[in-house]
Amino acid sequence: MPVSIKTPQEIEKMRIAGRLTGEVLDYITPFVKVGVTTNELDRLCHDFIVNVQRAIPAPLNYAPGGHPPYPKSICTSINHQVCHGVPNNKALKNGDIVNLDVTVIKDGYHGDSSRMLYAGAPSILARRLCETTWLALWRGIRAVRPGAYLGDIGHAIQSFVEPLGYSVVREFCGHGIGRQFHEEPQVLHYGRPRTGIRLEPGMTFTIEPMINAGKAAIKHLNDGWTVVTKDHSLSAQYEHTILVTDAGFEVLTVSDGCPHPPNP
Ligand code: MF3
Ligand code: CO
Ligand code: CO
Repeated sequence: MPVSIKTPQEIEKMRIAGRLTGEVLDYITPFVKVGVTTNELDRLCHDFIVNVQRAIPAPLNYAPGGHPPYPKSICTSINHQVCHGVPNNKALKNGDIVNLDVTVIKDGYHGDSSRMLYAGAPSILARRLCETTWLALWRGIRAVRPGAYLGDIGHAIQSFVEPLGYSVVREFCGHGIGRQFHEEPQVLHYGRPRTGIRLEPGMTFTIEPMINAGKAAIKHLNDGWTVVTKDHSLSAQYEHTILVTDAGFEVLTVSDGCPHPPNP
């Protein structure tokens, strides 16, 4: 399947799905505190998406090849968990860094976004990792324009984080998104400039770098989903859904509470 170009009507639906996704993250942010369980965060998000937004939480029962159906409505990845952490009944502890990854389907179209949140006070190291990952996402976003290469995005991220001593997870990437949760192309968070396909207006994809404080290697837990760093170092991730526009890019997963873009 080639990379799809969304029509203006589809783009309008992607804007709606994207905003709803951001609004779930806005809604859940004040609940992220020491003592809350990730199951409670999952239930709150599920109920908000279903009952308030009249939308569908895409992760619930999502079962791409080789995976058991995902059992929850959001992903909650804590500390050394890289991605796809499954909510459970353990309470958050002071200093935990938590990635909340939300994907909403509205009117047949997906929005996908994640943020790092803190339970209590994170260590200086943990905070710096999260802030660097946020800046790295924006390095990637700002590489998006018509005629740019997919490899420009990965290069922008990799060349920013590696000199700071961090590493880029290789096994997971951003992805085209639209009617399907995961579409082409694969958006790598590392790479060389002027490689890969060229970007065109109307393409929609996520950028979602996973950045480790230690080595890049990961391993899978035997729940079939949770991914952790092999060396147990901390890992952070931010994600936005992006549209390629004539002028450059538009962030589709914006919301009133979404962190403001950093100064260039
Ligand atoms: N939201 C994740 C992404 O950014 C995918 C989660 S798949 C799930 O691509 F099944 F774990 F939810
Ligand atoms: Co994604
Ligand atoms: Co996501």
